[in-house]
Amino acid sequence: MPIDAEELVLLDVLKTVEAPQTLEALAQRTGLAPGTVGRLLQQLQAEGYRLTHSPNGAWRLVGVPDRLTEPELTWRLGTRLIGSQVLAFQEVDSTMDLAHEWAKQGAGEGTVIVADAQRSGRGRFGRVWTSPPGTGIYCSILLRPQRDPEELSGLTLLGAVAVAEAVHLTTHLTPAIRWPNDLLIEDRKIAGILTETQRQAQEPPHIVMGIGINVNTPAALLPPEAGSLTEAAGLPVDRLALARALLQQLDRYYLAWLAGETASIHQAWRRHLTTLGHEVTIQQRDRTLTGTAVDVTETGALVLRGADGITQTIHAADTIQVR
Ligand code: BTN
Repeated sequence: MPIDAEELVLLDVLKTVEAPQTLEALAQRTGLAPGTVGRLLQQLQAEGYRLTHSPNGAWRLVGVPDRLTEPELTWRLGTRLIGSQVLAFQEVDSTMDLAHEWAKQGAGEGTVIVADAQRSGRGRFGRVWTSPPGTGIYCSILLRPQRDPEELSGLTLLGAVAVAEAVHLTTHLTPAIRWPNDLLIEDRKIAGILTETQRQAQEPPHIVMGIGINVNTPAALLPPEAGSLTEAAGLPVDRLALARALLQQLDRYYLAWLAGETASIHQAWRRHLTTLGHEVTIQQRDRTLTGTAVDVTETGALVLRGADGITQTIHAADTIQVR
């Protein structure tokens, strides 16, 4: 059942007050009639919100249903571009495909497609992104930057920084970035970013940034090298709070990038980067390289020094191993 505006007003109050509230107090704080509040409290319970009701008639919100809906994602989100439109689905093949379709139909910059599950979630280099229901965040964000193609590599960096910051703000965990944009905690991949571009005739290309985060995903459902935030934190993680923080951080960093603040984004990315100074094995489509990761360039390329002492700059690849 879609959540309505009055419910959101009441929810906002229930989420922000610490102490249990009587019906009358809730009516006063929301500006709704006590009868309406009573009806809405029952409605919320039926929708999966857990509310306690003490003998003195005071209500308290103790749990929210674990689902990502458009009204809850956008309620007081406070972003300027990201989340200008949010489309939330139960199950899709891939949010990437939907985002490209919406882009072709003229959807605006900042449109977010989010799904509770994906039948064919995809990762970089054509890999599968495991997307079981009710556990992770699977979203694609439509961007329409009016920039030269060579500047677009910065988008991948800002995506990784935004995910790292959102995870930190929500869970206090500090993910590391494995070049170029895998998010790791304790050497296990907990999130990944896939950036795709498509050009329509006579139009500048649009970009779709796809982000997958293993939030409460059971280890048994994940590939062996992957981990989840719940595993790292030792407790369930609020998917909705994390998804909202993600949209807010993406908005913050994307606006900064549009304003030309690329140096600060690069610095933040470099700070989280775990790869520098390590021996790495780099997998490209048709070759594997090993060496020491000695530096990253302004555009996010990796400078690798081989055993023969020769350095080369690698622009797009996948780091499969860091020692
Ligand atoms: C990677 O690390 O290989 C990138 C993974 C990206 C996965 C996300 S989940 C949401 C969006 N939809 C997809 O099919 N893929 C991306």
